Amino acid sequence: MKIAFFDSGIGGLAVLHHAMKLLPREQFIFFADEDHVPYGVKPREQVMEFVGEAFGFLVDCGVKAIVTACNTATSVAVKEMRQRYDIPIIGMEPAAKRALDLDGEHRVLVVATPITVSGQKMRILIEHVDKEHLVDLLPLPRLVEFAERMEFRSKEVAGYLKEQLASYDFSKYSALVLGCTHFNYFKDTFRELLPENVHFVDGNEGTVRELVRQLKARNALEDHPMSVEYFYSGRKVEAPSELARLQSYMKRLDEMYFLP
Ligand code: DGL
Repeated sequence: MKIAFFDSGIGGLAVLHHAMKLLPREQFIFFADEDHVPYGVKPREQVMEFVGEAFGFLVDCGVKAIVTACNTATSVAVKEMRQRYDIPIIGMEPAAKRALDLDGEHRVLVVATPITVSGQKMRILIEHVDKEHLVDLLPLPRLVEFAERMEFRSKEVAGYLKEQLASYDFSKYSALVLGCTHFNYFKDTFRELLPENVHFVDGNEGTVRELVRQLKARNALEDHPMSVEYFYSGRKVEAPSELARLQSYMKRLDEMYFLP
């Protein structure tokens, strides 16, 4: 049986990219809701509908687990999806706890979508982990648009990030938490704008480890030659140009992977 990775778009490839390293003998389905991306600036009810449709499709495919490789969809819908379906559903939330565990003295900036930043799940997470009030939240919705159109290194991207980060005194920070999977594509531009004391923290590894833990607990790990099937909103991606597009994102993730 296959493992599904779900995102509003191509951000979730960053989590799949990690899973392919940790689980090289599994078969994967990657579902990008390309008809409805971006989620992060839409009403929560609408996002709930989109996620419901996607999960219905994936469950009908007979997958053994669904990784919600999207902080926004997790914030809105993961609880509801777990009530609906009896397979492991792994969610993703900004790795603020991990950042504070690594350094509990300096400030942490969490960047994510507007939905994630303003959601109840984020508020509860901050209440639980940020006892010293070290965490700041910043929505960066335009990065999702830039990522979807493969605009990684333009003047617009650099200008947007420079402007958004201008008011922070980064000598007081230890981490930038990438709280949206689409943001993994911009680590080089972020790196140029941040001093060396600020490190990237993301939830990709933690999410894949949780997937492995849940599959192990159910004795559901398998041993096949690895394969990945891609879907855009329920349509199988077969056109060579689109498969090449997805491979370019994977290549970009290879390049970003080791940036500290
Ligand atoms: N990639 C998604 C996340 O991790 C959201 C992007 C969007 O559709 O706004 O939050």
